[in-house]
Amino acid sequence: MHFSTILLAALTSTSTIAAPAPAPAPNTLSARATPLIDLWQDSGFLGLKFTGKSNVGTCENLAGSGFNNNVSSGKAKPGFRCTIWVNKDCDGTGFSFNANPGSNQFPSWIDNKSSSWKCVAA
Ligand SMILES: *[C@@H]1O[C@H](CO)[C@@H](O)[C@H](O)[C@H]1NC(C)=O
Ligand SMILES: *[C@@H]1O[C@H](CO)[C@@H](O)[C@H](O)[C@H]1NC(C)=O
Repeated sequence: MHFSTILLAALTSTSTIAAPAPAPAPNTLSARATPLIDLWQDSGFLGLKFTGKSNVGTCENLAGSGFNNNVSSGKAKPGFRCTIWVNKDCDGTGFSFNANPGSNQFPSWIDNKSSSWKCVAA
């Protein structure tokens, strides 16, 4: 009951920024991983979806998944802003998007070419 109330609040708060979970301690990285980003294999938020979990501000690589160099649209989870990079380790020029509307078609220079991602509080 309590959990679903919180979840509903998070899902419905598009304009007001609900406070995200507090930043985790550095030594609890995987234990505190939070869903931060949704990436789709096709434009228009279609096709197979990847939900990336990490800690706010932590770079993650897509290597080893069917989504590496193979996503065309994405959304940050509510309350976050996410960036994707062509290079791994979030190196070089990134492309950023929010939760709503997100990006329903990544620009051609990074479409099907992203290898890493990172999200911060919006
Ligand atoms: C890449 O995405 C396409 C859909 O856009 C899918 O058909 C294909 O299986 C994916 N490739 C891999 C390696 O998962
Ligand atoms: C990215 O992959 C999708 C699905 O396979 C394809 O429709 C689209 O044309 C590709 N984009 C580029 C820039 O190659």
